[in-house]
Amino acid sequence: MGKSSINIVFAQPEHAIYAEQICQLIYESALQRGTGIARRSPEYISAKITGGKAVVALDGDKLVGFSYIECWEHGDYVATSGLIVDPDYRHLGLASEIKKRTFELARLRFPFAKLFSITTSLPVMKLNTRLGYKPVTFSELTNDDEFWRGCEGCCNYDILQRNNRTMCLCTGMLYDPKTPLVKQPWWEPYVIAVKRKIKKIFRLSKSKK
Ligand SMILES: CC(C)(COP(=O)(O)OP(=O)(O)OC[C@H]1O[C@@H](n2cnc3c(N)ncnc32)[C@H](O)[C@@H]1OP(=O)(O)O)[C@@H](O)C(=O)NCCC(=O)NCCS
Repeated sequence: MGKSSINIVFAQPEHAIYAEQICQLIYESALQRGTGIARRSPEYISAKITGGKAVVALDGDKLVGFSYIECWEHGDYVATSGLIVDPDYRHLGLASEIKKRTFELARLRFPFAKLFSITTSLPVMKLNTRLGYKPVTFSELTNDDEFWRGCEGCCNYDILQRNNRTMCLCTGMLYDPKTPLVKQPWWEPYVIAVKRKIKKIFRLSKSKK
């Protein structure tokens, strides 16, 4: 199967028929990974789809990927969540495309909102970083109780509670539209490495005296 046959689109109300399958995919993947996940009901996923807050990836009429957005604190914050790719369609770059579309949807619908996600997934951290997200402590994310209540279905919820919601196993990542993207020139890491070497040599020669 090729990536060229797959359409990644903003979800339309008729895609609500996939809600059950999406929940099942998310749940089975979480079991397989042995990590926690905030469980979502088919009704919740269906509401995201009909509310124009989701992205679906379709191979013909087969659903092969999904993600959604939700706003918090009256639209000050928007979470991008529920990213899933059908196991038979992984490693084709689909998650990357779905993430981009979801980011686009969030920016279109909530242009002034801070976007965030909490995740234990390395691919998600990688993709978020490429979109301009930065890792942050939970204090920088929404305070909305309703958002954190979503973590109740996660097997690590006791850790979050024990730490008064300040930390858990997930990494918080935030995209702040007010922070301009500074593109690092290709030579920057080399400059840093050379500076470190010089400092080290300088320190060594001082300690010998
Ligand atoms: C995580 C997931 C969405 C990735 O989907 P995918 O379509 O295979 O990802 P892509 O092909 O777009 O790959 C994106 C990047 O992640 C990397 N990646 C993908 N799967 C990976 C894995 N299991 N471990 C490490 N890196 C991985 C890819 O190499 C790629 O990096 P690159 O661009 O530097 O080459 C998919 O594995 C999945 O649905 N997992 C279960 C649900 C899940 O974990 N969701 C995230 C919850 S927060």
